[in-house]
Amino acid sequence: EWTPYAFVETTIADLKAKLGNDKVVLALSGGVDSSVAALLLHKAIGTNLHCIFVDNGLLRKNEYEAVLEQYKHLGLNIKGVDAKERFLSQLAGVSDPELKRKAIGRVFIEVFDDEAHQVQDVKWLAQGTIYPDIIESVSVKGPSATIKSHHNVGGLPDFMKLQVVEPLNTLFKDEVRRVGTSLGLEHFIIGRHPFPGPGLAIRILGEVTAEKVAILQEADAIYINNLKEAGLYDKVWQAGAIFLPVQSVGVMGDERTYENAIALRAVESVDGMTADWCHLPYNVLAKISNEIINKVKGINRVVYDISSKPPATIEWE
Ligand code: XMP
Repeated sequence: EWTPYAFVETTIADLKAKLGNDKVVLALSGGVDSSVAALLLHKAIGTNLHCIFVDNGLLRKNEYEAVLEQYKHLGLNIKGVDAKERFLSQLAGVSDPELKRKAIGRVFIEVFDDEAHQVQDVKWLAQGTIYPDIIESVSVKGPSATIKSHHNVGGLPDFMKLQVVEPLNTLFKDEVRRVGTSLGLEHFIIGRHPFPGPGLAIRILGEVTAEKVAILQEADAIYINNLKEAGLYDKVWQAGAIFLPVQSVGVMGDERTYENAIALRAVESVDGMTADWCHLPYNVLAKISNEIINKVKGINRVVYDISSKPPATIEWE
């Protein structure tokens, strides 16, 4: 019978034998898979594992700082890279969803390549690829944000000439979570909702600007915190707020407002391939709506997405 403990023991022994004293680079995303892969490798080869965590400026509010802190606390050899401006400048004027994904993927490769270069004599690239990633290597909307899927984009960056090590590539998601738990990863990381590689960029319809990102981060944080307070976060498979660049009329005190809208999305799913919208309690939705409209400048209307997948997708872009 499969147990996380046996898996951890065999995998660490295998990694030690395979990697010896070699240096390995790994891009951490804050997600479950890359975090568990990093911890396993860290147990096997210690500081020869060089983790890189890129702030693309498209993460949730305070997420970069909180996750980086958590990784340091776990003892990982990690370097945080602030690349916010680099990503934002490449997104200027881009409103097509696929072009946004491409721009973000391209900048990520550039930033990661620069960083991987700085690790002398690095021999391996580690990835948190899990078994379903291999079977569904191309998602409905195009390649996911894994590094490998960009293999045939022009000339290969240097880090792609590295040998690839994927310690989780035989596991399903629930097994990855169990392995993570047995390695001492906290619920803060293990229990986290899926979050797309292109981040908030595909939750802002149309062009992304720093101002819209800031507004969405505030609204999203209110939403997620309320789900946690109501004990609903762990019951929902994935939730997030979406910025709708649609102005509508409202009234605030004696003033007429003409501001943008926020859509709230929460779904139940097993694997993200199909999904049902969650029947969140009205009182919770009411509190979230009030709080967003009262606290987030630039938003005067909140709507709830009651579409299931298919035919809608989970993300709006
Ligand atoms: P959709 O919107 O296709 O999303 O129903 C299904 C799951 O995939 C995530 N998603 C992405 N993840 N890069 C990613 O890493 C992407 O470009 C991307 N697009 C969608 C989405 O958040 C959901 O969990």
